[in-house]
Parts: sequence; structure tokens; C-alpha cells
Amino acid sequence: MISEIIRERAEVVNREIERILTMKEPEGLYKATRHYLKAGGKRLRPVITILSAEALERDYRAVLPAGIAIETIHNFTLIHDDIMDEDEMRRGVKTVHTLFGVPTAILAGDTLYAEAFEILTRCDAKHENIVRAVKKLAEVCIEICEGQFMDMSFEERDDVKEDEYIEMVRKKTAMLIGISASIPAILFGEEERVERALWNYGLNAGIGFQIHDDLLDITGKEKIGKDWGSDIVEGKKTLIIIKAFERGIELKTFGKGKAERYELEEDIRRLYDCGAIEYARKKAREYIEIAKSQLKVLKDNEARRHLSELADFLVEREY
Ligand code: IPE
Ligand code: IPE
Ligand code: MG
Ligand code: MG
Ligand code: MG
Repeated sequence: MISEIIRERAEVVNREIERILTMKEPEGLYKATRHYLKAGGKRLRPVITILSAEALERDYRAVLPAGIAIETIHNFTLIHDDIMDEDEMRRGVKTVHTLFGVPTAILAGDTLYAEAFEILTRCDAKHENIVRAVKKLAEVCIEICEGQFMDMSFEERDDVKEDEYIEMVRKKTAMLIGISASIPAILFGEEERVERALWNYGLNAGIGFQIHDDLLDITGKEKIGKDWGSDIVEGKKTLIIIKAFERGIELKTFGKGKAERYELEEDIRRLYDCGAIEYARKKAREYIEIAKSQLKVLKDNEARRHLSELADFLVEREY
């Protein structure tokens, strides 16, 4: 079962996180900095890094710091994303800014951002390859900021098109998953076509993953551990909303900041009835199929099959 494969590797990641990302002084800052890391999370990005190293038939321990660095960047983006999205729950706990205040949350994110690059330099790889990995991760971080800005600016627009949405999620989410898959190829100095295939695997899987995340915001249950219906009340132009608006649907709670549960449930019913939910599900699956097709460049081994199954899991998961 792929869930078991993920769980085993997530445990390796968790042990490494505890070893590397320790508490420091001042306590007030580090409590906020470590808050999400301690609360859990699926650890999908570093798990992908491990599986990708395994698929290349290399020792994943050499590149484990890269996986931890990427998870650290991810946690930084979550802290700042929750400020931007004004969310109160994440990973089943209160968001960092809700508990510690916005100024400390900004600093907690900044701290993780810098720690990530320091951790990345600890990989057991040639110096020139570490430099390439640092450059690539820095480029991805810039794209994440661009994507997050696009996400916010789309809230002000009524004419956002599907291809603009795809471009936005490619930047804000998919690229970090792309580098999670391709960083072992960079660090081990694999052929460029292998690096590219892994990058494209992660990129397409990442687009499917974010479409599914948007679906979970609507269809998910308590299991997601995050605010529910948050994208609707925040006025986010998700693929579901773009499709629904294209089909002339009107939503009472959209962009209203807050809503009663029954009103949200009525809007969600409209999203189901107009076929927008089904449309997004189908699109997410299409990206997953593109992702899986990239893997044929790699040797046919067990880890390659795991990467393929993991891509399916990204759009089947309930949290
Ligand atoms: C949430 O990512 C943020 C998105 C990019 C959608 P995950 O769903 O991987 O969150 P955790 O790490 O498991 O909490
Ligand atoms: C976040 O997208 C992407 C990031 C870069 C963090 P969302 O705003 O949909 O993520 P969640 O739903 O809050 O985890
Ligand atoms: Mg958010
Ligand atoms: Mg967001
Ligand atoms: Mg979301």
C-alpha cells in the first residue's frame, strides 16, 4: 500500500526534523518557528525526495537534508500563507499568527526560510551540485512568491481564466513539488533528461495536488485540519469557482469574509449541481496522468512504481 510506503519514509523525515530543527533562544521566536513542524503534516515533499533518490538507485541519506530543506521552506510558506488567507486552523492546531501574533509569525517564517538553505548545504554531494541545488531552490522560492501574489491579486478580479489559474498554481505550489522530485538528480549529477523528467513529474503532480487541495476546501471534512470553506469566503479564484462562474452560477457567500454554515452548504450544493466539482476532479486526474507518464525515462524499479502510486494518492487523499 502506498500509504504504508509514505508513512515509513515520513517517519525517517520526522526523526531528521527533530534532530536538525531544534528549539533555540529566544524561546518566544522558536516556539512559533517550530509550531507547524511539531503539529505534523503529511511530509509529502521530503517523501518524494526520498523516493526519487531510491528510483535513481542511490542512497537517499546523502540527499535527506535537501528533503528537510524543502519541508522547511514549505512550513515557512504555510505560516505566511495563513496570514495572507486569514486562516485560524492548520494541521489541526491554531495557526501561528493566531497564537503568537502577526509580527512573530512573519519572523518565524523568515527564520525557517534561512534555516532551509543552511540545511541544504549539508547534503553529501559535490560542491558544484550543491550550488546548483541552492540556485534552483532560490529560483523556486521566487516563483512561489510570484504565485502567491497572483493568488491574492485574482481575488480582485472577476475575469480570471483557467490558464491563468494553472499558471498561478504552477508557481505557488507545483514548483516546490517539482524540485522535491528533481533535487536528487541535481545533487547526484544525473543526466539532464532524468532531472527534467523528475521535474516535470513533480510539476504536473503538483498542479493536480493543488486542484485537489482546492476541492478539499469544499468537499473535505474535519480530517483536513484546516479552515473549511475558507477559499469561498475569501473570494479565491479556484478552478471550481472559475468553472461555476463560467456556467453562470451565483454564490451568496463568495468573498464575504465570513458566512453561516448553512449558507456555505447551500453554495457548495450549487457547485456540485453545476458540475464544477466534477470538472475540477477530472482536470486534477489529467495532470496526474501527465505526471506519471514522465517516469518512463527512469529505470523500471520498485521506487518508480511508488512514485507513480504516490501521484495517484495526491488526488485521492482525504486530507
Ligand atoms: C498544503 O500542503 C499547502 C498547499 C500547497 C496546498 P500540504 O497538503 O502538503 O500540507 P501538509 O504539509 O500536509 O500540512
Ligand atoms: C497555498 O495554497 C500554497 C502555498 C504556497 C502555501 P492554499 O492557500 O490553498 O493552501 P492551504 O489550503 O492554506 O493549505
Ligand atoms: Mg491558505
Ligand atoms: Mg493561500
Ligand atoms: Mg487550500
